Amino acid sequence: MADNKIVKYSGDSAEVSWHGGLCIHIGECGRAKGDLFVGGRQPWCQPDVASDEEVKDVVMRCPTGALSVTFADASNPEEASPENTVHVAYNGPLFVSGQLEIDGALADAPGLDFRAALCRCGHSKNKPYCDNSHDGAGFRDFGAVGETGDPSTGVGGPLAIKAVKDGPLLFKGNVTISSSGGRSIWRGSQAAICRCGASANKPFCDGSHKKIGFTSEHP
Ligand code: FES
Repeated sequence: MADNKIVKYSGDSAEVSWHGGLCIHIGECGRAKGDLFVGGRQPWCQPDVASDEEVKDVVMRCPTGALSVTFADASNPEEASPENTVHVAYNGPLFVSGQLEIDGALADAPGLDFRAALCRCGHSKNKPYCDNSHDGAGFRDFGAVGETGDPSTGVGGPLAIKAVKDGPLLFKGNVTISSSGGRSIWRGSQAAICRCGASANKPFCDGSHKKIGFTSEHP
């Protein structure tokens, strides 16, 4: 099971929160220029070495929602990106961003209101979130997207995401899906996205979860 440890890093004006159950160590925070996050330093994150805008900018790069930030004067909250997007990673998860409403989202992870990495290999022990199990499971899907949906669909607004028991992820709300190569190709307001790893039409569900007896229970 995921380590749902939460660590808070407090500065004079910003408080950064890190959720261990969501972090899959992409490293956007550590790679960001500046000294907000420095690996091996204690504490690792020091909000007072950066301006509020810099802190917000780096936190918003976290693609899993593991990082979030609050400010003392509450005047600088994180904003959802204007377009809801799903990026299908090469042999990896679905990186979702926008105005997210994930059914049953962890209450102690406010970053999930804006960003999430969702399992699509079927092996995560922290479903619906990715825990990097795709690596050990040898999941292979290079992230092509073959369908175009309805290109006239608008952008933005709430994006509801529901993980169906033993079935797909249901997306409801304007959303754009991009392939691993960065092509924004599918647009629509409703989609069933495979999370069992077996669909022949990834990233979309084709009903294969029934054939393979996919269970969304954690092993
Ligand atoms: S969830 Fe994978 S085919 Fe339906």
